[in-house]
Amino acid sequence: MTKPRRTAKPTGSAADFIPPRPTLAKLRAASKGCQGCDLFKVGTQTVFGEGPSSAHVMVVGEQPGDMEDRAGKPFVGPSGKLLDRAFDGAGIDRDDVYVTNAVKHFKWAKDARSARRIHKTPNAGEIRACFPWLRNEIALVQPQVIVCLGATAAKALLGRTFSVMKSRGIPIESELAPAVFATVHPSSVLRAPPDQRVRAEKMFMADIRAVGRHMANASPRKQTTHRARKLTPWSTTAHPSGTSSASIRSSRG
Ligand code: URA
Ligand code: SF4
Repeated sequence: MTKPRRTAKPTGSAADFIPPRPTLAKLRAASKGCQGCDLFKVGTQTVFGEGPSSAHVMVVGEQPGDMEDRAGKPFVGPSGKLLDRAFDGAGIDRDDVYVTNAVKHFKWAKDARSARRIHKTPNAGEIRACFPWLRNEIALVQPQVIVCLGATAAKALLGRTFSVMKSRGIPIESELAPAVFATVHPSSVLRAPPDQRVRAEKMFMADIRAVGRHMANASPRKQTTHRARKLTPWSTTAHPSGTSSASIRSSRG
């Protein structure tokens, strides 16, 4: 007899906090009161995405870091600085980029030896609970390209089995956008051991340059076609990781 598959304990979901007929402004305001998972007790505040709704590029990180948690804005710390340099090097206008995270509260634990707050990776249940915010950001911005930074973002958008290391820097077909790219998280570049740091940064820069080239080569006609195929704002708890992307496909209008 096969054992029943153990599934994660059901938790709440951000879906319960998504306003009707959402706009980015309405979502941002509503996200402040989100209690979709226990991380609202851990982080200082919800850190919602930022950038123009007309952005062609959406960058998805893992979760706010220490500085973002204090500032209430995504990518204002060291990772954000590296990201800005990468976009500069790729010829991507920072004003054409919407930045957000897979999880919108900072998950951390107290360091035993100092006053530092140690980053903790969000678990699958937290990523799933927070997904409705991201799903609605994507539906409203309708980016031409989504860039997943690191495994958490890639798993949230491309499924649990997706490997960043195997598929970094190449456009991946998805229902979410005409192209989804994945690369490592900039914090992994910043944390790389000294003898690997230069190489790690070069590879990260090259991945973002591939995004820039893709944008430059994408025909404007194709962009219009996709942007016209409206991804409907979405507010169920369905999530691509753990199931299949069918949950997304079937939720499209
Ligand atoms: N790292 C992330 O993944 N997101 C941020 O907003 C900042 C650092
Ligand atoms: Fe809500 Fe996401 Fe924060 Fe959890 S992490 S409380 S789902 S905003």
